[in-house]
Order: sequence, then C-alpha cells, then structure tokens
Amino acid sequence: MQLYETITGIRQALDSQRKTGHSIGLVPTMGALHAGHLTLVDASKAQNDLTVCSIFVNPTQFNNPDDLARYPHTLEADCKLLEEAGCDLVFAPSVDEIYPTNPFLKLNFGELETVLEGAFRPGHFNGVGIVVSKLFNIIQPNRAYFGQKDLQQVAVVKRLIRDLGFQLELIRMPIVREDDGLAMSSRNRNLSPAERQEAPVLFQALTQAQDVLRNDGTLETAKTAVEHYLQNHPTFRLEYFEIANADTLQPVEQLQAPGATALCIAAHLGKTRLIDNLIV
Ligand code: PAF
Repeated sequence: MQLYETITGIRQALDSQRKTGHSIGLVPTMGALHAGHLTLVDASKAQNDLTVCSIFVNPTQFNNPDDLARYPHTLEADCKLLEEAGCDLVFAPSVDEIYPTNPFLKLNFGELETVLEGAFRPGHFNGVGIVVSKLFNIIQPNRAYFGQKDLQQVAVVKRLIRDLGFQLELIRMPIVREDDGLAMSSRNRNLSPAERQEAPVLFQALTQAQDVLRNDGTLETAKTAVEHYLQNHPTFRLEYFEIANADTLQPVEQLQAPGATALCIAAHLGKTRLIDNLIV
C-alpha cells in the first residue's frame, strides 16, 4: 500500500494505472476508521482493480469549531487497518494541499439542504460538496463509496454528480452497527465510557418508531414515541427526529413504498453529536 500526501503524487500514480485500463474505486473518509469504513473498502475491492482511500479532515464542512478541534486524527492506525484490508493507495493530504487558498465557491443544494443536517449545520454541505468535487477531480474514480449513515450526504453527492456531470457511479453501503445497535461512527471515540453505554438509545428510539409504524401507527404517533423515549433518557438532547423520503430527504406525510421512507435522528450526548437513520 502506498501513501501519498500530494495531489501531483497520487495523480501520477493513478494516471499510469488508468492507462492500462484499471478501474478505480474511491473511499472518501475523514479517518478515525472503523469497521463501517472497511465495508466500503471491501466493496470497492470487489468491484474495482484499484482502491484508493482518502483521509482528510475537511475543515470547510465543520460548522462548529469545537467539533473540528475534537475530531480524532489517527493516521498511523488508519493506514494499518487499510493495509490489512488490502487497500492499494491512501491519499492523506494536508489542509494547505487541498486548500492553498480558501475557496470562494458556494454550492447551493436547494431544498436538499434546508432540512435535517443542512438545517442544523449551515454550510456543512457546501464544504462536503467542495471537498468531494476536489477528490473526484484528483482521483477520477470509476466508483465512489459512501455510507448510509450520512444519508443526506449521499443525496447531496448524487446531486453533485448529476449537476456537474462527474463520470462515476456512487455506491451507497449499509450502516454497520455495534452489537448493541449503535451505528459505527468516528465520533463514537469521543464518548466517555458512561456515554458509550447510553449511546444505543439513539438506535433504540429509531426502532421504537419503526415498531409503531409496523403496527399501523401514524407518523405522528411514531414521532411522539421517539420524543417520549428520549425524554426518558435525559442525557440525550434531541435535535431532530424526522420521517422523510429516503431519496429526497423531504419530510413525508405518509409512509412511502417499502424501502423509501427514512427515519432520521440527530441528538447530542454530552459534547458529542450523533446521527442515525433507519430506512423502512
Ligand atoms: O463522510 C465523510 O467522512 C465526509 O463527509 C467526506 C465524504 C469524506 C467528505 O469530507
């Protein structure tokens, strides 16, 4: 496995591979890798000749400076995991390499970013869109792999690919959970042992809502069930629970076809903000 820190370096390495007709899979990450990321690497390895994992804690997508400061940096451990997973190339640039100057460009994802994460994290998807576009330009992958945990990000990147005409296929991979249901996330590392014990409450709240809907309850009853569940776990501060169309992320008034409704939740546990979703 080769590690590249410069755009020129990784471009040269990939150009020669591309000339021999090798397909390239990109797994964009911000590091602090966990088993969820490794399922993206595995999928890329199965579908492409070469797999590139990028590790870059992208400052432009953090709307909260404390969140950026607390974001874990574990490059050495990440490279070890990637090597074991059989990743071929790692691209881990510095902030100056990606942003020699602050970008002027502002991306507007319309109604996609007025809801959920977009509503609570102003500017977040602009930063995601800019860095993902840069990565697509640098790596020029045939396929790019994103996790369902960031469901709205998947929708935003799909839109970016469509609007800017990137020639690649986006593959969405399922959420990977710990045994107790907690969705894997790099931010889980920031939880204290007590918070970590409490953290599965978020997924339990989602399954409560799912149960209500399965038993023909209304969307309103499902929302109330989630709110009550979190009221009984006051260590959590609920930011939102929404029932949305799984593709457009717009709120829905009734259940969509099977597999097309997303139950989306965000809450603070201590200083850590966690998100999760279930597609029903
Ligand atoms: O999902 C993430 O880790 C990030 O948002 C991404 C896609 C790597 C862009 O910085």
